[in-house]
Amino acid sequence: MTVIFNALAVILFLPYHVAFDKVSVSLKMGDSVTLHTGVKTNQQEDIKWYFGDTRIAQITGDLSFICTGVQCNEGTERFRDRLKLDNQTGSLTIMNTTNTDSGLYKLKIISSNDSEKIFSVSVTEVPATELHEMKEGESVTLDSGVIKHPNDVMTWYFNQTEITGDQSKICTDAQCKKRFGDRLKLDHQTESLIITDTRNTDSGEYKLQVSSSDSSFSITTVKRFSVSVTAVPDSDLSSAAVAGIFVAVILLVAVAVAAGVVYYRCRRRTAVPQNEDDDDDDNSPPDPKSIHLR
Ligand SMILES: *[C@@H]1O[C@H](CO)[C@@H](O)[C@H](O)[C@H]1NC(C)=O
Ligand SMILES: *[C@@H]1O[C@H](CO)[C@@H](O)[C@H](O)[C@H]1NC(C)=O
Ligand SMILES: *[C@@H]1O[C@H](CO)[C@@H](O)[C@H](O)[C@H]1NC(C)=O
Ligand SMILES: *[C@@H]1O[C@H](CO)[C@@H](O)[C@H](O)[C@H]1NC(C)=O
Repeated sequence: MTVIFNALAVILFLPYHVAFDKVSVSLKMGDSVTLHTGVKTNQQEDIKWYFGDTRIAQITGDLSFICTGVQCNEGTERFRDRLKLDNQTGSLTIMNTTNTDSGLYKLKIISSNDSEKIFSVSVTEVPATELHEMKEGESVTLDSGVIKHPNDVMTWYFNQTEITGDQSKICTDAQCKKRFGDRLKLDHQTESLIITDTRNTDSGEYKLQVSSSDSSFSITTVKRFSVSVTAVPDSDLSSAAVAGIFVAVILLVAVAVAAGVVYYRCRRRTAVPQNEDDDDDDNSPPDPKSIHLR
């Protein structure tokens, strides 16, 4: 009796559950999202995606017909080339989302038993780029703004170049090592990036990409940071200048003293022979008094 009742409950419940499955997805502008079908295309007759009432993507089980955006429907210019369809699963990826992408996405799977699934997507606006300005030698923390989940993949980029690798390895390639040495650190809890002893050459765009995934959808979010490190040549240069001037003055004094000594010595040395050689010196008339004295 209970077996029959349970079986009945499952049969009644399943179609109901599948038909009204609704998943909420929150995004920030610029993020990418993949809405999972949870099925394989080769086991379905047809998979269709709708935004509101507009068909935005379709794929047949034998892959004989595939379309996204305007290929499916004239009214889908809003997505331009930002839609991608996985031909193995029929999962839909919306790249570089904007706030006009917010709304209900309906998935219709046509097979022996049809099903529907609704994704409620909301895209919120965020400040484009976080600005950080500092002087050389200071440290800066670029806050990821998230707590890391075990399945998240977080990757830091500097000017489009990856600076973190798998398992939180940081700055492993030669180019990164050469640029940053061991001045980069990662906060283990949040994967925030810490740059210590900043240099002028650290200036540029830093980007954190976070990919997270569950059975219903995957999201790739991006957070951007603009870092501007100003060199502090003023104090360096002036102290160098001061040191230079100091050395120059010392040199001048030394030269002056040396010149003075040499001059004094010369005078002393020439003074004596002048008297001795007075007789042979044609240029200077003999001083009768000095001869007299000698
Ligand atoms: C399916 O997708 C893969 C990779 O995106 C592509 O190489 C392949 O050509 C596609 N197959 C069909 C039939 O479109
Ligand atoms: C994302 O979209 C915005 C505006 O729609 C555009 O300015 C930007 O270049 C796009 N970014 C990428 C990576 O496609
Ligand atoms: C159809 O639904 C039944 C249960 O109601 C399920 O066992 C079966 O796998 C489904 N078939 C497909 C192709 O999804
Ligand atoms: C990084 O990008 C910024 C801005 O485009 C540029 O000024 C800087 O020189 C770049 N730095 C490196 C090391 O490529």
